[in-house]
Amino acid sequence: DSVDLGKCFEIINNLVTEAGRLIARNNETRQEFVCKSGDIDLVTETDRAVEKLIMDGIRQHFPDHKFIGEEESSSGGAVNKLTDEPTWIIDPVDGTMNFVHAFPHSCISVGLKVNKVTEIGIIYNPMLEQRFTARRGQGAYYNGRRIQASGQRDISKALVTSEFGTSRDEEKMKVVNENFAKMAKQVHGLRALGSAALNMAMVALGAADANYEFGIHAWDVCAGDLIVREAGGVVIDPAGGDFDIMSRRVLAAATPQLAQDMAKVLTQYQPLPRDD
Ligand code: IPD
Repeated sequence: DSVDLGKCFEIINNLVTEAGRLIARNNETRQEFVCKSGDIDLVTETDRAVEKLIMDGIRQHFPDHKFIGEEESSSGGAVNKLTDEPTWIIDPVDGTMNFVHAFPHSCISVGLKVNKVTEIGIIYNPMLEQRFTARRGQGAYYNGRRIQASGQRDISKALVTSEFGTSRDEEKMKVVNENFAKMAKQVHGLRALGSAALNMAMVALGAADANYEFGIHAWDVCAGDLIVREAGGVVIDPAGGDFDIMSRRVLAAATPQLAQDMAKVLTQYQPLPRDD
């Protein structure tokens, strides 16, 4: 049966507001954490509490909906098989490293896929009260105001975001550093907010012109992908082909030309395992 997307949108906005209060309150002090895949891949009690609050809240209204959640996935067992069922892809705290340090650039990132197509995206930084939302075909919004990607086509004038990532694998670090060095020579400026989702939100806002990262997960980019595209930007694979949400690779840009020019410059890397 059909999904009431209007109701889904209203409910997720309310849940994110409620969960945001918890994050903002806990961001006032530095947080205890435990390490996940390595010593810079972190999780806190708040990550777990927020994921539970959002999943329980959705289940109350939509008991049949499926979930792919960062903390559920990393706690072992869960396989991220994306089906045609309505599936919520959730990162309860994107930018956990920032959150642990009380650096106020973390967010909740939630996407809803139906028939494998993203219908709703929401990215919310409760410390700075920045809410980015999109519904498929209805544009992208920042705190209720319609937003547009910058339209920038020229790589030499582009403000670009990326991240060091959450892995210290030597091969991966080599590629990250090589790409930072290449970008620093060619682009206007290079930034790393510490949250993959907020980096993408900046492309949608027209504040940044492009974002790329190898090693992200589906929950980091599901909402950002829709929000960037609804703002008139493009999201592709960093090698220039189609974006694959489970591939752990992303390149978002204001225009197709900028995206393809970035793809030509980037040293490529395939993080393993995939998300599915
Ligand atoms: C991470 C952050 C980080 C990015 C990683 C993400 P998390 O998400 O967005 O900036 O470099 O690729 O996995 O672990 O804080 O939710």
